[in-house]
Amino acid sequence: MELKVLTQEEINEVVSNEIIELINNSSKCVLGLATGSTPLGVYKKLVEAYQTNEVSFENVESFNLDEYVGLDSTNNQSYRYFMDHNLFNHINIDINKTYIPSDKETSENYYKRYDDKIENHGGIDIQILGIGSNGHIAFNEPGTSFDSLTHIVSLKESTIKDNSRFFNSIDEVPTRAISMGLKSIMNAKRIILIAFGKNKQEAIRCLFEEEANENLPASILKSHPNVTIYCDKEASSLLKINA
Ligand code: GLP
Repeated sequence: MELKVLTQEEINEVVSNEIIELINNSSKCVLGLATGSTPLGVYKKLVEAYQTNEVSFENVESFNLDEYVGLDSTNNQSYRYFMDHNLFNHINIDINKTYIPSDKETSENYYKRYDDKIENHGGIDIQILGIGSNGHIAFNEPGTSFDSLTHIVSLKESTIKDNSRFFNSIDEVPTRAISMGLKSIMNAKRIILIAFGKNKQEAIRCLFEEEANENLPASILKSHPNVTIYCDKEASSLLKINA
């Protein structure tokens, strides 16, 4: 895992530029996208680049990591709503080629089909990730098997609490979600994890100091050959490099 400590503005610039370069140099490309506050700056830069004709998304497809069970596209806290409003509605991507796990609790078969679909579309070229304060990636909570594929998850108390800032009250936060698994994420050809702020410093410290273990889902990334972790100063402040 490569670590880069930069300002948030620099990270948004570098990551969006890498995505734009990939799109401009490929006849077709598949992006793995994340929600949460962290990737918003990158999405803003992608929209700006589209508006100034630096990039076209006509040959881009995307797969999102996760979705809350029971929040459909009309709910402004659903991840479909988030993606449409923060990115897809502002660029020329074919909306029918933007895939997000269903908000309905369906069958094992459905979950398997999500992984199969990613594979059938050639796999994810660049996967963008945030990280939860407890080290989760997508909605893979501590204890999730490193062999997991897309599945239904029960959210931990700490995740419900972290994410309650987007809802009117904590009682409105769904307790379950459908998430790509850790193995699904590891199949991406390139992975970029972004961490901003003090709330992530402990997760980032553990990521660099602990051996890979299932209590720290993000630690699976240690065995991926092409990962960059971008942190701002606050998120990296417990790392020894800052000592
Ligand atoms: C949610 C999402 C994750 C995201 C995390 C961090 O739990 N499922 O994909 O990484 O939140 O969110 P934020 O970027 O808002 O800190």
